[in-house]
Amino acid sequence: MTDQPPAPYAGAPPYLGEQRVLSGMQPSGDLHLGNYLGALVKFVRLQHQVETFIFVADLHAITAEQDPKKLKQQVREITAGYLAAGLDPKVATIFAQSAVPEHAELAWVFNCVARLGWLDRMTQFKEKSGKHKERASIGLYTYPVLQAADILVYKATQVPVGDDQKQHLELTRDIAQKFNNDFSAPGFFPLPEPLIQGPGARVMSLRDGAAKMSKSDPSDNSRINLTDDADAIAQKIRKARTDAEVLPETAEGLEGRAEARNLVAIYAALAGITEAEVLKQYAGQGFGAFKPALADLAVSVMGPIGGEMRRLLADPAEIDRVLADGAQRARAIATPVMAEVRGLVGFWNS
Ligand code: TYM
Repeated sequence: MTDQPPAPYAGAPPYLGEQRVLSGMQPSGDLHLGNYLGALVKFVRLQHQVETFIFVADLHAITAEQDPKKLKQQVREITAGYLAAGLDPKVATIFAQSAVPEHAELAWVFNCVARLGWLDRMTQFKEKSGKHKERASIGLYTYPVLQAADILVYKATQVPVGDDQKQHLELTRDIAQKFNNDFSAPGFFPLPEPLIQGPGARVMSLRDGAAKMSKSDPSDNSRINLTDDADAIAQKIRKARTDAEVLPETAEGLEGRAEARNLVAIYAALAGITEAEVLKQYAGQGFGAFKPALADLAVSVMGPIGGEMRRLLADPAEIDRVLADGAQRARAIATPVMAEVRGLVGFWNS
C-alpha cells in the first residue's frame, strides 16, 4: 500500500486528482456529542474548503433491525442535525444513501474484490455481532464493503470520521488498490485519506471513561444528545463520573485518569482549542469548578443546535427538499463513475 497520490488515469473525469470530502452517519438513533465532535464539526468546517458530500446511511442502518415505519423519519432527524450544526445545502451535497442506487451496485462489485480474510479482521463486526456471530446478518459482516462503495463511487479523497472508523478506511484503501490492480486501471479509484485527528476523535461515555460514547449505550446519562435541552446537558455533565484530584498542568498528568481526560478533551473540542490550553487555564482546579464551566460551554454550543433541529423537524418539507436536491447532485457524480466501473468489469450492461 502506498501513500502516493493516485497516478492519472486515461479518460479520467475532470475532478480526479482534485479533493472531494465524503462522509455519512447512520440513522439508527439520536446524534450525540461523539458524532458531533468526531465528525459533524469537521463536515461543517470542510464544506468551505473542499467540495463536500454528506449522506445519511439508511442502507447501513438495516444491518441491524429497524422499524420500517420509522426509518424515513430517522433519516430526516439526522438531516436536521446536519443542517442545524451548520451544513449549508447550497454548499455541501446532502442526501440519503438509498436515493443513489449506485452505492449498492458498487458494493456488489467490491464484495467480489474484497477478501474474506480482510473482513475477518474487522473489529467492529466482532463488537456488534457479540457472542452470536452466526446470528448476525451477512449485511453486518459486509458493512465495511458498502462503506468503501459509499466513498469510492464519488472518488472521494478525504473522509472525516471518528477514530472508530479508522479500520474501515484502511479497508477502503485496500479495496481501491485491489480494484485498480485487478481491472488494470491504475489510479482509477483514489486511495482516500481518513481525517481523524483532534481532541474529539474519540469521545468517551460520561459514565465510563473506558467505553466509547455511543447510541447503543442503555444509559442516556452516558451521552449528550444533540436534541438535549440546556437542563439535560448541564445535569448530565454534573453527573459525569470523575475522580477527586485536581486538574494537572500537562496532558501527561491525565495518564490513568480516563474520565478526567475525556472531560478535558470534550472541553477542548467544544472550544476549538488544544487540551494543553484547557489545562493551562484550569490546572490546580477540581471538578467542582471545571464541570460548571464545561456545562456552560456545552450548553452554549449544543443548545442552539437542538433548538434549530426542533424547528426544522416541525417543517419536514424543507428537509425533504434538501434531500431531493442533494440526491440529484450526488447521482450526477455517481452515475458516470458506476458506468465506468461496469465497463472496466466487462458487464453486459456497460
Ligand atoms: P456512525 O453513524 O456510527 O457515526 C457517525 C460518525 O460519528 C463518529 N463517532 C464518534 N466520534 C467520536 N467519538 C465517538 N464516541 C463517536 N461515535 C461515533 C463516527 O466515527 C462517524 O464518523 N460507518 C459509519 C457511517 C458510514 C460512513 C460511510 C462514514 C457509512 N458509510 C462512508 C464515512 C464514509 C458509522 O457507522 O458511523
